[in-house]
Parts: sequence; C-alpha cells; structure tokens
Amino acid sequence: MKFNCELKRIVDDSYDIEIGRRLQKTLAEDLKNGLVGKIKKFAVVTDSVVAELYGREIYEMLLDEGFKADLIVIPEGEKSKTREMKEFVEDTMLEKGYRRDCAVVAVGGGVVTDLAGFVAGTFGRGVPFVNYATTLLAAADASVGGKTAVDTPLATNLIGLFNQPKKVYLDIDTWKTLPKEQISSGLAETIKHGCLGDAELFEYLEKNVEKIFEGDTEACEYIAERNCSVKYKVVMKDERESGLREILNLGHTVGRAVETVSDYRLYHGEAVAIGMVAQARLGQKYGFISEENVKRVESLIARAGLPTAVPDYINKAELVKKLYTDKKVRDGKLRFVFQKEIGDVMQFGDNNYAKEIAEEEIAEIIAGM
Ligand SMILES: NC(=O)c1ccc[n+]([C@@H]2O[C@H](COP(=O)([O-])OP(=O)(O)OC[C@H]3O[C@@H](n4cnc5c(N)ncnc54)[C@H](O)[C@@H]3O)[C@@H](O)[C@H]2O)c1
Repeated sequence: MKFNCELKRIVDDSYDIEIGRRLQKTLAEDLKNGLVGKIKKFAVVTDSVVAELYGREIYEMLLDEGFKADLIVIPEGEKSKTREMKEFVEDTMLEKGYRRDCAVVAVGGGVVTDLAGFVAGTFGRGVPFVNYATTLLAAADASVGGKTAVDTPLATNLIGLFNQPKKVYLDIDTWKTLPKEQISSGLAETIKHGCLGDAELFEYLEKNVEKIFEGDTEACEYIAERNCSVKYKVVMKDERESGLREILNLGHTVGRAVETVSDYRLYHGEAVAIGMVAQARLGQKYGFISEENVKRVESLIARAGLPTAVPDYINKAELVKKLYTDKKVRDGKLRFVFQKEIGDVMQFGDNNYAKEIAEEEIAEIIAGM
C-alpha cells in the first residue's frame, strides 16, 4: 500500500527592508501594527557590545508598548556564532517560557542576525523574526537575503537554514558607533557588490570611499541602497542558490578559508578582501579581467583600510587545504566565481557561474600574496 502525501507549497516570503536613521520606534510601531501577527512575546537577541548601545533600548521600548520581552545577550564576535551559542539562546527562551507564540528580534551585526535567524527557523519548528542591523556589513549583506547559519570548527556557515525575516531595518545611524575597522569590513562586501554587479557603485566608491568613514549622510545612504539593490536582484532570481546566487560568493572561496585559518583574527570583510584580490589575480590569468582593473580593485580595497595580502601568521598550505570546505566544491573539485572586468561576472554555461579550478593554480596565486 502506498499513500501519496500531496504537499505542494506556495509561499510568499516577501518582506520590506527599511533604510533610515533611528528606526527603533518604527520597529515597535510595526510590531504593534501586526508585522508578526498577534504575537506579543519577543526574544531580543543581541551581543555584549550592541546590548548597551541599541539592544536594551529596543527591549525597553517593547516593554513600554506592553509586550512581554527578554533581552538575550551573547558575547560579541564571530566565536559566538556556534551551535553551542544557538543552544544557549534556545534554552534561555525555553526557560523563560517561550513556546511557539513568540518572535525573535535580532539586534546587531551579521553574527547576531545569522545566529538569531537560525534560532528562529528551528525554535518550535519555526517562529518569525526581524533583523535590526547595526553594522555596515550586516546592512550590506548579512541581514538581508535570508541565509542564516552558525560556524563549526571545520569552517564557517556550514550549518544553517534559508529563512527569510519578516522585515529588515537598516539603521544607518548605528554606523556612527562602529570602530573604523568594522566600517572597513562592511566596505569589503560593498566593493564586492560593485565588482560583481554595479560598476557605478564601484566608481562611486573610487571617488568617495573616505566619505563613508566620515559618516557622510548622502554617501552612507547611497551605499546602503545600492548594496540592497545588487543583492536583491540576485536573490529574487535564485533564493536557494541553485545557480545565480553563487555570484554573491565572489571572493568568498579564499575569503572564508582565510577567515577560519586565521582563527577569526581577521574580520569577515577583511578575509573577503583577501579573497577578492585572489579571484581578481587568478581571473587576470584567464583573461577575465584586465591588469588595469585588477589594480583598481586592489587599490580600492587598500583605500578602504582592508588587507590585500595573506597575513604572515597564516600557513598557506593549510589555507589551500581549507579551500575544500567551500560550499561550491563539486565532486571534490574547487569552483571559483570570477568578476568580469568591473560590474559583471563570468558565466560558464547554463545557470553556471563558477569555474572549476585546479588546486595548483590557486595555490600559485596564494603563494604570491
Ligand atoms: N547571511 C549572510 O548572507 C551573510 C553575508 C555576509 C556575512 N555574513 C556573516 O556576517 C558575519 C559578520 O558580520 P559583522 O561584521 O556585522 O560581525 P559582528 O556581528 O560580529 O559585528 C562586528 C563587531 O561590531 C560590533 N558592533 C555591532 N554593531 C555595532 C555598532 N553599531 N557600534 C559599535 N559596535 C558594533 C559587534 O559587537 C562586533 O564586535 C559573519 O559571521 C559572516 O559570516 C552573513
């Protein structure tokens, strides 16, 4: 005997990304107006730095609105993006009586939004969540697009879910309190977006990158919008990364590996910057990008305060081995995304944007960095 469980799904996971300044009140209003339905219980997940800057304020605002809320604080930094920390957040929620009638409010950078979004995706088999992004990196990339994950000792982001938030708030005002190196880290993903899909954004950065460090309103708003627009054009066509979305991985094959091998001494964006240089140099060998444009990429990365070389403390042989933990690896073969000059990517066949690379080729590039 055989039953056919017909379970077709039509899902509308559309949501808004609001870009602005001081959006705390807007968030509270949205929740009051039913953004997550009738839910009145919120786990505000944040980290030890952001808690006192923005997290507590949001938590108190929710209490003032008459909601039940708890502030759950994880230690700051990439080393908190683990299965153990996910368990800590979940157990805290369970102990405080949270069941399925709750939602998660993530307040912080990419570590918090990645972890909290993953918690929300599995807690009670899934509860809604919203992201309140407080870093340029989270605004540029991590908080939008619905990829959530934790790191493992082997490599970053290996365990996770596609899980879309109900809304994302990009509060540009929060960038004011970011240390300079965190602005740089966020600029790496911004430069990546320019390289892979927006030549104008790249040229704008070439003219104005210093303005971002000065907190110039117009410049910050411009990059916030352009980042979203580049990312969304891709995500809307390929939410689950069956092809096109791989292009957002530009620079991440070497980037993720170098991030892990550095034992997180390098920030995510710093690691991506090194990966961007590696793919540009390798791409030049294949004729995908001119020498002049490789120089432009490297020079912009350096002006953004980012590294263009592999730090001395990194063992390059170990780095090459680590490349095989990349999610794009197929049949044991390394695959790389390449920019096509500035503002475009290479395509290698129908719905294929990653090229198979022999280990020696990338090892040679890394040896020269
Ligand atoms: N899901 C995705 O699609 C995606 C995309 C890109 C990156 N990521 C992930 O994002 C993470 C990196 O994000 P991140 O750089 O935001 O890291 P992060 O969350 O660790 O934030 C960086 C540092 O800035 C501090 N901070 C945050 N907001 C602040 C503020 N407004 N003022 C002062 N300090 C502040 C944090 O406490 C932390 O110390 C990585 O784990 C990466 O894998 C995910």
